[in-house]
Amino acid sequence: MGPSRNWKKTLGGLSVFWLMAQAQTQSTPTASSSSSPPPQYTLPVSANEAPPVIPNIRDPLAVDAQTACPGYVASNVKQTASGLTASLSLAGHACNVYGTDIDSLNLTVEYQTTDRLHVEIVPTHIGAGNATQYLIPPSVVAKPGVEESNAESDLEFSWTNEPSFGFEVIRKSTKDVLFSTKGKKLVFENQFIEFASPLPENYNLYGLGESVHAFRLSNNYTKTFYAADAGATTDINIYGTHPFYLETRYFTQSPSGGLSLVTTNEAEPNKNYTSFSHGVYSRNAHGQDIVLQPDGITWRAIGGSIDLYFFSGPTQPEVTTSYLKAVGLPALQQYWTFGFHQCRWGYKSWSDLEDVVDNHIKFGIPLETVWTDIDWMLRYRDFENEPVGFDYEAGNSFLQRLHDGGRHYVPIFDSAIYIPNPQIESDAYPTFDRGNETGSFLKNPDGSLYIGSVWPGYTVFPDWLSEGAEQWWIDEMVLYYQKTAYDGAWVDMSEISSFCVGSCGSGNLGLNPVHPPFALPGETKNPVLKYPEWFNVTNTTEAAAASSALASFSSAYPAPTSTGTASYVRTTPTPGVRDVNYPPYAINNVKGPLAVAAISPNATHADGTLEYDMHNIWGHGIIKATYAALSKVFPGHRPFIIARSTFSGSGALAGHWGGDNWSNWPSMAFSIPQALQMSILGIPMFGSDTCGFADNTDMELCNRWMQLSAFFPFYRNHNILGAISQEAYTWASVIDASKSAMTIRYQLLPYLYTLFYHAHTAGHTVMRALAWEFPNDPSLASADRQFLLGPSILVIPVLEPGATSVNGVLPGLIEGHEKWYDWYNQTAVPVPSQVNTTIDAPLGHIPVFVRGGSVLPLQQPALTTRDARQSPWDVLAALDKDGNATGDLYLDDGVSVQPNATLTAEFTVQQRKLVAVMNQGGWVDGNSLRNITILGVDSVRRAVKFNGRPVPRRNVHLDEAKHTLVVSGFDISAWAGDHWTLEW
Ligand SMILES: *[C@@H]1O[C@H](CO)[C@@H](O)[C@H](O)[C@H]1NC(C)=O
Ligand SMILES: *[C@@H]1O[C@H](CO)[C@@H](O)[C@H](O)[C@H]1NC(C)=O
Repeated sequence: MGPSRNWKKTLGGLSVFWLMAQAQTQSTPTASSSSSPPPQYTLPVSANEAPPVIPNIRDPLAVDAQTACPGYVASNVKQTASGLTASLSLAGHACNVYGTDIDSLNLTVEYQTTDRLHVEIVPTHIGAGNATQYLIPPSVVAKPGVEESNAESDLEFSWTNEPSFGFEVIRKSTKDVLFSTKGKKLVFENQFIEFASPLPENYNLYGLGESVHAFRLSNNYTKTFYAADAGATTDINIYGTHPFYLETRYFTQSPSGGLSLVTTNEAEPNKNYTSFSHGVYSRNAHGQDIVLQPDGITWRAIGGSIDLYFFSGPTQPEVTTSYLKAVGLPALQQYWTFGFHQCRWGYKSWSDLEDVVDNHIKFGIPLETVWTDIDWMLRYRDFENEPVGFDYEAGNSFLQRLHDGGRHYVPIFDSAIYIPNPQIESDAYPTFDRGNETGSFLKNPDGSLYIGSVWPGYTVFPDWLSEGAEQWWIDEMVLYYQKTAYDGAWVDMSEISSFCVGSCGSGNLGLNPVHPPFALPGETKNPVLKYPEWFNVTNTTEAAAASSALASFSSAYPAPTSTGTASYVRTTPTPGVRDVNYPPYAINNVKGPLAVAAISPNATHADGTLEYDMHNIWGHGIIKATYAALSKVFPGHRPFIIARSTFSGSGALAGHWGGDNWSNWPSMAFSIPQALQMSILGIPMFGSDTCGFADNTDMELCNRWMQLSAFFPFYRNHNILGAISQEAYTWASVIDASKSAMTIRYQLLPYLYTLFYHAHTAGHTVMRALAWEFPNDPSLASADRQFLLGPSILVIPVLEPGATSVNGVLPGLIEGHEKWYDWYNQTAVPVPSQVNTTIDAPLGHIPVFVRGGSVLPLQQPALTTRDARQSPWDVLAALDKDGNATGDLYLDDGVSVQPNATLTAEFTVQQRKLVAVMNQGGWVDGNSLRNITILGVDSVRRAVKFNGRPVPRRNVHLDEAKHTLVVSGFDISAWAGDHWTLEW
């Protein structure tokens, strides 16, 4: 969770004015009243302020690098085994527009695989003089290399020096230009890199996360990458950085046989189009603006290099597979992690958690995992339990009972580490001491500790480039596990967030422990942390002071105007010197200056690297360290990590939640495009705070949301401190709605798990956009109010209040081509082509459809996944219009990184015969086969046969009206042997 937050309710005796005054003088408070909280200093708002900048994209004085700069010329071009190399030199006088021009560059082009082309441009002399200081080492972020020499590629690289150096990437088979910098200048400076490519009119671009934005990106939108502890607000830069996009182009076959591009608004209904998709990954971790305009895309980074990878596809699944193979295939999660998770900020004790568990059991609601937010910590310090509510011994017995019941516990771990007041002996914090002794923390440029401020007060921050940090973190997590037997890690504040500008704790440790500042409730637009934890808005005097204070604080981020230009910091390049706090090019960072609400760019890593160059990958660093730690705690088991700040490739190690959203309908609706974005970015283990985090939810919203999230891979209800309760059992209608959706989810667990297996081994997506499954239908290019779970389950949720029905599309371009079956009544529904269908959806009902052509292995719902895994199997075959269907199943122990026993089954239906073929890899399931249900059956033979033998009539139920056939009475364990067959 981030700073858009509520605060504790204890009434403080000190006025806000007192706090302000104290803040100004930075002195230790001396006054306190009897009922007041401990006399602690609260960091003033001004500590998190810095002179403002105006984002370049909105700056009327901004210089256009394209007109100012000379570009480059290529020379010395040499063919290599996998492509070519060349030298680029500045084509004229340096423009030094937002940095100092680098006069000599190396170009490398590699055909790395048949479907991946690499184009890299780096300074000839790295780190020398004016060169950009930082290329991401492959050890920090995977760097794809040449895998096949002489790879036969459908992509073709070409270049020109007219009028200056530019390159083009063409798809040979369609002669389509996918990317072209020809005619645009290449700008390569020590603090600014720009290149641009035109894109087709009304283009279909996806990705460039993390953002809360429509699934199909707008063509009037700047995507900024600068990891920020900002609530999940639309269009701003938030927690993660994924410089990858997928582009889909639709074509129509012209009479001459050629392909011509069609825009989605030109596309005619009921017509079959051909689509081609490709992907572009820019392996650059610096602060960036990616400017999307109607005529193209402009990439602007404040450092690093040009390290581009083009993926030829030509389908979305192929692009995604290639991209994920390049950056890291998604982690296979443990089976239990697909159960339902309950969390809130404000579970203050083990007995609060026990109540949550008991209530779920009492109301028959499945519950797999209870989570704690920062409440578990002693004064918000990682690895130390708050002794009253979270006593270690009481915890041991609670966790024993929890684990015995097949359930799990996941606590939050914050990224910042408390640095104690050295003058107070009782303030000692061994975790800090051990990290400090091993040189594990970030430094100031002068070598002293960099000290920011987060929940515990003044804090230091692990330096993942130091030699000691990872081992120190592993040791701390191992030690802590010995005290509290957690089951996974929730990594927070990893952007990395700090509540003050610069090393604000340097010289001020005497003020520690410091109260964490909190925001006002409802202060969600531009939250500024300012009130002590115990501040109470119901105290009218304080509240009045607070709102006037709030008014004055809003001037901290003056809205840019086209005339007022005097008050912003603008810097000009200085040769040989980088201004890391105020780079000459100001990205459109939601927090304004780079040092606000985050570690300052001049924080220094052990190898001398500045945070400026690392900021967007700090979160990836803690994911790696946590993965290593959990691998130590649970040897051989898949680490379960849900992390906030991610980078390309993080999905190989961790899952992610949507961050601090709001308890409102738009937040729920945006969770779908958020999840689809994470799908193609390789983090399938995704879900949003169900029922909403900030502000109060309500019964109707929570009812709809509990049902929607049941079809997301990561399914967690989470709530902010001080908001009304929102566990499923809070309202009778939400109990029923949750149970009804969870019944489907738990039946589908084997399917979901199999989808993750395919994600992990082959880079397939789990949650899917309609556009990906129906690539011939341009009318689905933007569809993000419904989705598919894998290829077979279509979910059309209600996303608005007061509705009793929902308009949705049952995709299928040509009338009668696709078949969809209602999950609940198992009958085929009419599929009017490309027309919104009104679907009944009273409160408590989420429309779910099974795609004709699917075979789904199902188990029975239960209160835990452990119990569900021990239940009998059903097989549901939903036939397509030709009576065919396919599907599969993957099973193993559900925990091992390298399972030594597996089982797979492949299902095929053809000509009224369902065949299951098992591949026995040593995993024994043993549960029986209960029912086989066939949907879309027109007729049956005289005798239904199982393994060639007639099934007794009493075990065969044909419903001719519904076209369903249910066969039961099998006396076998479902997946023993090498195959079984059912004929009808
Ligand atoms: C650039 O190319 C030159 C000449 O081929 C080579 O000496 C130099 O090491 C290269 N620089 C980098 C950063 O690869
Ligand atoms: C750095 O840039 C300045 C200004 O363009 C130039 O005079 C100087 O030679 C450059 N230094 C190096 C080492 O390239």
